[in-house]
Amino acid sequence: MRALLLGALLALVVVAAGCAEGAPDIFRPGGSAGEEIKTLSIQIFAILAVVLAVVWGLLAFVIIKYRRRPEAEVSQTRGNLTIEIVWTLIPAVIITVLLVLTVQTTKQIDLPDRGAQFTTVGHRWWWEFDFPDQGFKTANEVYVAAGRQTSIEVESVDVIHSFWVPQMGGKVDMIPGRVNHIRFVPLRKGEYLGECSEFCGQQHGKMRFLFVVVSTEEYSAWVHNQAEPAAQPTGAEAVAGGKLIQTIACGSCHTIRGTPAKGTFGPDLTHFGSRRGIAAYSLPNTPQNLLAWLQDPQAIKPECLMPTIPLPLREQQQLVAYLEELK
Ligand code: CUA
Repeated sequence: MRALLLGALLALVVVAAGCAEGAPDIFRPGGSAGEEIKTLSIQIFAILAVVLAVVWGLLAFVIIKYRRRPEAEVSQTRGNLTIEIVWTLIPAVIITVLLVLTVQTTKQIDLPDRGAQFTTVGHRWWWEFDFPDQGFKTANEVYVAAGRQTSIEVESVDVIHSFWVPQMGGKVDMIPGRVNHIRFVPLRKGEYLGECSEFCGQQHGKMRFLFVVVSTEEYSAWVHNQAEPAAQPTGAEAVAGGKLIQTIACGSCHTIRGTPAKGTFGPDLTHFGSRRGIAAYSLPNTPQNLLAWLQDPQAIKPECLMPTIPLPLREQQQLVAYLEELK
């Protein structure tokens, strides 16, 4: 009885752990692969629930019916060939059913190759989205059109990462020196959290991105805006920041198209101000957070590759004003 209670408690803990607040809910998928994975999960869950009910039911029955009696001698069934065959066959059949369902789902998820729209490159610890046909790169936030097959090439420049938008379904390893693919049809408009699902170092947990599913028109507008060069600063602070950024080292790691900044080591900042998050979507993109990030990136993401550039507060504020105007 104690074993039964302990088992039930453990199951409850496991279920509760999967429902953490704000976590992407794979039971509310937004993409084709996610739908198929959800269906498979429910099928497998149902089969295993039946197995669990039968096993625990038999266990409870035996515990209660055959509890210790003073005179009883336990009957021996060792070497019963029929029982041995039956309890080998039953699990074999169950596992075969699970295998067939899983292989079917894997085949359904695998869509035909119609050419990739963009390449996702994993970095420690952020995401680059490269649209070579449209001539722009962005970071940590990407848009796709609902109802249209999305095909993504995935690569990595340093260690193995893994591309995963839980509600779109499916994940794929990003391996240095290799190009992998992931394809699905985003079905429902919305903002979805993307994550790295392969442990890749100290900031693995803060390697996130925003995956935005919009209408075809909104997608075209986004692509059009991203392909434009950086906006000219207008506010006095931002103008000063725009001049300042050319005199310090930012441009050796970051690109801001339309300015001398052409570095490729860090995220492209051309439309930085339009993004919802900073530091690989680990903080909302607000002037306060950006200032804190510029003052001490290592405090927010220890071991990240963004250095601290010592500047007076005044100049830090000018940089923030400039970057936030890069819509
Ligand atoms: Cu990148 Cu974990």
